[in-house]
Amino acid sequence: MKKFFIQTFGCQMNVYDGQRISNMLKVNGWTQIDNSNDADLIILNTCAVREKATNKVFSALGRIRDSKKPDALFGIVGCVAREAGADAFKRIPELNFVLGPQSYHKLPEILENPDSKLLNIDLGGLEKFDEMPQMVESPLVSYIPIQEGCNHCCTYCIVPYTRGREISRPFDDVMRDVHHAADTGAFEICFLGQNVNGYHFENYMLSDLIRETAAINAVKRIRFTSSYPTEMTDDLIKMFGNQPKLLPFLNLPIQSGSINVLTRMNRPYSLNLYIDIIDKLRAIRPDIQISSDFIVGFPGETDSDFEQTMNIARQVKYINSYSFKYSPRPHTAAALMKDQIPDNIKRERLKMLDGYLNDIQREFNESCIGKTFECLCEGPDKTGKHLLFRTPYMQQCIVEKPSFGKIPNLVNIEITAANKSSLRGKIKN
Ligand code: 5AD
Ligand code: SF4
Repeated sequence: MKKFFIQTFGCQMNVYDGQRISNMLKVNGWTQIDNSNDADLIILNTCAVREKATNKVFSALGRIRDSKKPDALFGIVGCVAREAGADAFKRIPELNFVLGPQSYHKLPEILENPDSKLLNIDLGGLEKFDEMPQMVESPLVSYIPIQEGCNHCCTYCIVPYTRGREISRPFDDVMRDVHHAADTGAFEICFLGQNVNGYHFENYMLSDLIRETAAINAVKRIRFTSSYPTEMTDDLIKMFGNQPKLLPFLNLPIQSGSINVLTRMNRPYSLNLYIDIIDKLRAIRPDIQISSDFIVGFPGETDSDFEQTMNIARQVKYINSYSFKYSPRPHTAAALMKDQIPDNIKRERLKMLDGYLNDIQREFNESCIGKTFECLCEGPDKTGKHLLFRTPYMQQCIVEKPSFGKIPNLVNIEITAANKSSLRGKIKN
């Protein structure tokens, strides 16, 4: 029996790509294992969004080269493959394949010709969706990509280079995948895209996908990520008011609270527009909560710019956010900007923003104590003594495993305790 090992870094889109690759290999008789030392095929599914992520991949490759079985095939797929291209073979000459985020369906070519080297970082558009076999079994939470790539061209972002220009999948193809996921085990559908709310195919928008998915009985929860502020149309906002299956949680990255920084990031929206969207969402769905991504230390960011980012965080009270130090990336305009910010200042600002975001996250989690949410069971924890659930706000909730009876996938849980990163709860009868 041929064994493969795959490790995925990065975003949900990469998680999805990893699942499709695993599924393709399993359909072809391979067995997945979780130790690269015993594998006949080793795949790193990589992320290039920050320099640290790219470096992590190359150190992992060095370790694998020294510990793998001598005749095992190994290579990278995903965004670092596209970023590094042929250079990856120069850095690690033993690599067998380098396949970009839109060409990983070419993997069988190296399995047929193990003595060759395979490099393909083409932007194949939607080809990969058509060429990979359907999932045999769908995860409880199934990610369905609806568009890939991005046309916004934020000046810090490598994604338009790694995943290409924006392209939306045909409506019928997406719905076929949704039905297939629902028929093979999915309870929750998460629509994915670098610019998910920009989805448009003929006259179809994201709101149409949500409406049609909500009509499927087996689908109990729907969400989507990641959204761009100017594409939050009124039609989409209204969905939060009239589609109860749409979870009351939205990731709406603002990146910075300073209009000067946003302009240099090439994110042309005003803070008024952004706040207006949140006000509308809260009016239509009072229990909605928002999360964001932030970048601190973008070239030219002054103390006053940073203070404005702190102000927007204070104003919106995000419940769960990611903040990053700006990292210059190849193929991006911001990497060439003057006024790069020294690392010690980036670090200080990150600490301050993170400190605040963590405080409000803890406060929100604590405010959930005593409330009851319908939560999705993700299975047992590592000890086997507890079950892990996801609340509608994507918080993890730990529940003592009942000694008898089968637990349904969706259960009402009363929250009994909370800290910054998780909740505790008990099953309500
Ligand atoms: N440096 C730091 N953070 C970045 N992100 C994207 N590009 C960079 C970069 N060059 C962050 C953004 C984005 C998230 C996925 O990663 O906040 O929303
Ligand atoms: Fe990383 Fe962006 Fe590629 Fe996702 S699309 S893997 S976040 S670089």
